[in-house]
Amino acid sequence: MSYKIGLSDLERDGGTSLTRQLVERFAAAIDSGALAPGEKLPTTRALAAEAGINHLTAARVYRRLAELGYVTASVGRGTFVRSAPPAAAAEEGDEWQSYVLPERPMSYLESVVADAFRLPREPGMLSLSTGWPSPRTYPTPELARIAAEVFEEEGGEAISYLTAEGLFGLREQLARWGGDCGFATDPDEIIVTSGARQAIDLCARAVLEPGDVVAVESPTFVGFLSSLRATGARLIGLPVDDQGLDTDALERLLARHEVKLLVLQSACQNPTGTDLSPQRRRRVAELAQERNFFVLEDRVYAALRYEGEGVPPLRALAPSHVIYVNSLSKTVGGGLRVGWLAARGPVRDRLAMLKLETDFHTTTLAQHIAARFLAAGGHERQLRRSIGFYRERRDALLEALERHLAGEYRARVPRGGHHVWVRLERPLDERALYREAARRGVTFTPGGIVTVERHAQTHFRLSFPLLDPEELDEAVRRLARAIREVRRQDRHAATMPLS
Ligand SMILES: Cc1ncc(COP(=O)(O)O)c(C=O)c1O
Repeated sequence: MSYKIGLSDLERDGGTSLTRQLVERFAAAIDSGALAPGEKLPTTRALAAEAGINHLTAARVYRRLAELGYVTASVGRGTFVRSAPPAAAAEEGDEWQSYVLPERPMSYLESVVADAFRLPREPGMLSLSTGWPSPRTYPTPELARIAAEVFEEEGGEAISYLTAEGLFGLREQLARWGGDCGFATDPDEIIVTSGARQAIDLCARAVLEPGDVVAVESPTFVGFLSSLRATGARLIGLPVDDQGLDTDALERLLARHEVKLLVLQSACQNPTGTDLSPQRRRRVAELAQERNFFVLEDRVYAALRYEGEGVPPLRALAPSHVIYVNSLSKTVGGGLRVGWLAARGPVRDRLAMLKLETDFHTTTLAQHIAARFLAAGGHERQLRRSIGFYRERRDALLEALERHLAGEYRARVPRGGHHVWVRLERPLDERALYREAARRGVTFTPGGIVTVERHAQTHFRLSFPLLDPEELDEAVRRLARAIREVRRQDRHAATMPLS
């Protein structure tokens, strides 16, 4: 290092501070190229020893160089000369980016979600990890005809910019549907979003500030947990039983905390497949109105019902307090990215503003297609066509569990949706199971990523829509073998003598 910047002749009694002298020498070496972009500087300890200065002065030198834009520091990795001019970048590939980007290691949750999008496409892999509808059920001929019609009849309007709230014709269709079942009464209440996922994210950002308390069903949909955690809010999990969200637990929570937002799915909950009972539905609405908190009500699976009566939306009982979220993703196709929310009052205006700031509006073409599809009764037809398909797969998965894991698990029969929530009678290391299962060609959703507490070592979610009955059987067989292998390794580790 010293040959590059010369540390031996520092003036120790002159008018210029040691910090300044060192900063100037490092800066000159970087400007001249003697210290190359991406080059690692000595640790502050090594610099202190080499330059004969104390450690704090060395740290001050690097801090000042960072302020001046010469270097970048990365916790745990060290201090590096800042990013490269183009020629050097080309030589060194993309490595420089990791010095410039803020440090953000991928979390367990993020890596499992990324796998869920990637692994189903890998040859030989059987995916029990996503609630995507099967492409075999998509109404593609009908949508192709509608898409052609949209271009013919709308011309350029098919791809023009819209207002943030979305296409009025689609909002009208959705408000009509909302009027029939109770989630909305007016197109003004509807904001079209890029899937329900975006509606959830906008809602979290609109309502929550760091430190706010948010109550959320646990287990739940992983996307809720990501969006809610990103706001800096404090998440508190509430149990879900066969009547849906446990409202006694909610009341106990409300006695101790000022809750800003409650997040729930009132029908065919992901992952438990349960409905909120009529009594509890009334109680949640009363509590929201008495205590003035918002409720985010997600209904993406509500129409995919295999058994039991439909459950009306909670928003029908408390329209000012409930922000309702839904999409066509689970019933028609997730790639359409057509979702919506229904809200009123200042929160609706704030949501529209955030939508505009985020992506202006949802794809115009998809909104035209969705509006015509709904107006022509396509959604009801699609449900009639696909419910039997999914029920058959749900039953095949439940049978496969009995065949391969009898006595080792418990699972409720989901009334609707795409998932079965499984509890193992004896705990095991879910990360080890996840890895072993992937090695054997099957993926699933570990309980720890869909629970607030993140220590679910006994639960996992199995999703059935993408596999045929025989594939479901094979997937559960592989999973059962993976469970046995992880248990065997645990026993082996427990009996190994400590060295
Ligand atoms: C409960 C729940 N809400 C929302 C979403 C996201 O839906 P979309 O694809 O419409 O964004 C999902 C998807 O997995 C979900 O399970």
